[in-house]
Formats: sequence, structure tokens, C-alpha cells
Amino acid sequence: MAIYDLVATTAFGIEAIAAKELKELGFKDLQVENGKITYKGDEKAICMSNLWLRCVDRVYIKLGEFKATSFEQLFQGVKKIDWANYLPENAEFPVADAKSVKSQLFSLSDIQAITKKAIVEKMKENYSVSWFNEGGAYYPIHVAIHKDIVTVHLNTSGTALHRRGYREKGNEAPLKETLAAALVKISGWTKEYPLVDPFCGSGTILIEAALMARNIAPGINRKFAFEDWDIMPEGLFKKCKKEAYEVIDYESELKLQGYDINRRSCGIARSNCELAGVDDSVHIQEMDMRNLSNKRKYGYIICNPPYGERLNDIDEIKVLYKDMGISFEKLPYWNKFILTSNEDFQIFYGRRSSKNRKLYNGRLKCYFYQYFDEKRC
Ligand SMILES: C[S@@+](CC[C@H](N)C(=O)[O-])C[C@H]1O[C@@H](n2cnc3c(N)ncnc32)[C@H](O)[C@@H]1O
Repeated sequence: MAIYDLVATTAFGIEAIAAKELKELGFKDLQVENGKITYKGDEKAICMSNLWLRCVDRVYIKLGEFKATSFEQLFQGVKKIDWANYLPENAEFPVADAKSVKSQLFSLSDIQAITKKAIVEKMKENYSVSWFNEGGAYYPIHVAIHKDIVTVHLNTSGTALHRRGYREKGNEAPLKETLAAALVKISGWTKEYPLVDPFCGSGTILIEAALMARNIAPGINRKFAFEDWDIMPEGLFKKCKKEAYEVIDYESELKLQGYDINRRSCGIARSNCELAGVDDSVHIQEMDMRNLSNKRKYGYIICNPPYGERLNDIDEIKVLYKDMGISFEKLPYWNKFILTSNEDFQIFYGRRSSKNRKLYNGRLKCYFYQYFDEKRC
């Protein structure tokens, strides 16, 4: 086993939640920065991070970091990396992603082309061949340049981790699974409490809550790039997956309910719950949130209502948020959590939140308004 510098990337605003997840997996000495957490780990760490992290976008191995203000420096820096330690001769190694911020090198297509050329040159030396067929396992490479500092990464996840494999059908404006998981974590909800999403759409928040409550690894039903890599010891990932199946909690009784005014959305939510294997844990029903009621004194509402981003939606949104205030306050001791990009939400809702947190839903700046109302009694 080797020790790698690993980087878990997250959406802005949920780094601390992701860092907590990493600590819970047993990782120490985390370096938390904007949108990423750096830590050290071996091959098992790569398996466990991809399989278990709920709020992380991708897990990378950091291969090199150097300064480059010219393409020649970029070429030489990339060529210095011992590529043959990672890539076999038949590897497929696209420079799949490049970013550049506040740097002299900014043409992404050129950065990708030069990086690829440098890797090929180094591999030619390593393997004493002049051409690579790239017919083998997939090794996506990522180059990021920030203020002229280049970081070269190998993407162990492949497709982003929010793609758990259960959302075949999307509703309009579905939440990313990683953000939905972060909302549930921030709320502090635990499985003993009922959880209601009155604007459930395709059901993402409830599915993520069910996966957490049942202790189902979010990556259990998908494939990762690293699975086919030569650096991974034979059988290691299979063992991690087997252990993940053994710790699933099939017994706990869950009270998860989703409502949506749109019949089609309810159908999508039900089929997504089925694909995620949590359809026995989540009840979905067509209903206007204005008719919300619940017999239980305590519980959690977590939701992502329409934001009213278009100008002509504003009046409708004001009425919707006002009606949410009336409807939700009929459950006075329930904790309530609402994600919206609307800065005036609290005014329309009719009450100041106990706390609010800035989060990004894609590129859109949002606020997670939090009402801790269990404390009221
Ligand atoms: C932003 S989407 C929610 C997306 C959801 N979080 C997901 O991941 O798919 C908002 C949802 O609110 C629903 N909706 C709008 N007005 C509603 C109302 N008065 N009562 C219940 N649902 C409503 C819409 O049909 C839509 O599915």
C-alpha cells in the first residue's frame, strides 16, 4: 500500500460538513480550504472515501504542484511527475478537465493539449514505445491553475459522486444529491424524528435522508474510475463493498414523507425511491403544501421550494412564501429548514429564522433558512 495526497472537492459552503464526514471515516490532519479538503490516505482510503462520502463531488490523487507562467514550464512540470507509477502502458488518460483562475496561462484547450503532450513524452521514456493505444482502464486527469500555481490530479471517482445511480429521471430543478445530503446533515435530523419535504420534486432530500438513516453507503450502486486501476490491490474494493452491505440498517422504522402539488413529480419521486432501494421507507403523495398537517408534536421539515428566479414569478413567490409561513407554523414545535435563493424569504414567510447559511446550488447563491422550533416549548 502507498500513501497518497488526496483531495475531496465540495460545493462552496459545505466544506465543514464534508470535513466532518471525513473525520467520521477516521481521517486526520485535514486541510480545509474553499471548495476542497486535502488529506492523506492509502488505497483503502480511496475506496472508503468514494463509497461513503455523501457531500463530496469527487476524490482526487494530487500528483504534482508547481509554478508555471509559460507553456514550457507547464510541460516540464507535468513531465517531472512519475506517470508510470500510476498509469499502465495501455491506460486511457484524457486530460478530462482543466481550470485556470487569475493565471497567465488561461487557454484551457492549450493547457489540456500541453499537459497531454508532456504525459505522453514521459510515458514514452518509461515504456520505451512511441505510441499508446489507450485501450485499457480509464484515468481521467485534471489540471487546475490558480495564481500561476499548477496542480495536477488524477480523478479516482470518474463521474461526479452526486451521481449515485438512483436518479434516472429528473424533475425540473432537482437538487444535487450531494447538496441534499448536506442539507439533511446541517439540519441535525436523526431517524427517530419524522421528516417531511412538502416540495419534494424528484425526492432527493428524502432519498438522501433514507440512505443516511439506513446507513447505506451512497456509492454502493455505482462504478468508480479507480476500480479498474492497477494500483488497487486485488479484492480490496470488493471487501469494502461487502462490509458496507453488512452494516445496512434494515430494521429502523422511518417516518419520511414527501408531498408535491405536481402529479408527475410524485411519480418521478416514487420511481427514484425504488431505484435507491428506499421505497419502503418513504411515503410520497400529491398535495399542496397549504394542506400540510401532522399528528406528531415534533419533527423536521426540510425543503427546496421554487425560488421565483424569473421576474414575472415574483408576485406568485411572495404569495407562496407567505402561505408557507401560515402552513408550516401550524406545526409550531417542528424544526424547519428552507433552501432558496430569495433574499427576502424571511419577510414573505413572516418570521426571522434562527440562523441562515450561505450555500451554492450550482452557481446560484442560496440561503438555508433554519428555524429551530423544538426549543420553543
Ligand atoms: C425546486 S423544486 C424541488 C426539487 C426537489 N428538491 C428535487 O430535488 O427534485 C420545487 C417543487 O415544488 C413543487 N411545488 C410548487 N408549488 C407547490 C405547492 N404549493 N405545494 C406543493 N408543491 C409545490 C413543484 O412542483 C416542484 O416539484
